Amino acid sequence: MRHIILDTDPGVDDALAILLALSSEELQVEALTTVVGNVSQEKANRNARRILEFLGVEDVPVAPGAERPLIEEPRPAEDIHGPEGLGQAKLPEPRLKPDERSAVELIVEKAEELGGELTLIAVGPLTNIALAYMAEPRLPEMVGELIIMGGAYGVTSHGFGNASPVAEFNIWHDPEAASIVFKAGFKLKAVGLDVTTDPRNRMSPSLFREIEALETPRGRLISDLCRDLVQRFNGLSLHDPLAVAAAIDPSLIEFKAFHVDVELRGEYTRGMTVTDRRPGSRAPVNVEVAVDVDSERFLKLFMERVVYGG
Ligand code: BDR
Ligand code: CA
Repeated sequence: MRHIILDTDPGVDDALAILLALSSEELQVEALTTVVGNVSQEKANRNARRILEFLGVEDVPVAPGAERPLIEEPRPAEDIHGPEGLGQAKLPEPRLKPDERSAVELIVEKAEELGGELTLIAVGPLTNIALAYMAEPRLPEMVGELIIMGGAYGVTSHGFGNASPVAEFNIWHDPEAASIVFKAGFKLKAVGLDVTTDPRNRMSPSLFREIEALETPRGRLISDLCRDLVQRFNGLSLHDPLAVAAAIDPSLIEFKAFHVDVELRGEYTRGMTVTDRRPGSRAPVNVEVAVDVDSERFLKLFMERVVYGG
């Protein structure tokens, strides 16, 4: 069993990732930490608590994190995720309260307690992780692994941007934080758009119809979360659940090591994950990049755990 902290900005696919993490016996969810990204930190934190309450989980702390990126103003994606961040889903105001510790405090505390047993999974902008590293520079050596959903690495034909032609949203929202994290020396695995937007790994319209036909609380919640996006984008990319799946069953995803830098200054390329794909390059590798997924097994896992409840 792996101890994890899920750092998240729910967010439709973040909500699915939370459902997956909490429906998987392989993972012990120590905490959720929330970050500004798809929506404000306040909404992200509230949404995370709403999902926990939906699941009847009361003992997982939800710690509030960064309210803005390191240097830029927030650029929420409410046009994608809906004004509240959960599509059309209407979950009640949660009774659970945010944890009294900040995201940074909780990440550092759990790293001290669990050391290499702790896996950090970050499926939002990397602001909280960068701040935690600045607060505790030994963090990369203390924790076992950092798995992120973020970046577009040009390692498959799907590896181009979504927030810009070349930049993926989580990196684009706080490129300075991403740059700090990529240079910090974490054992870093990145699940990027290269694999998450591959049609074989997405929720197809027909899979959505199967979910929509279910008359269960989960079926209704997931349908309301995803309906608008499935219609608008002819299916839904399961970005954040795929990063959680990498922690549940590492054999689902093939990774390849690269040297990656985050572009901070380009007029058109800010937030791009510049990947050294040159054969024989001597640049030191710093990221294991997801290059392929066992799609059939991933979608089976998704349906069993997220939709049917494990
Ligand atoms: C990432 O950006 C967000 O909108 C999603 O939640 C996901 O983490 C995909 O680019
Ligand atoms: Ca996210």
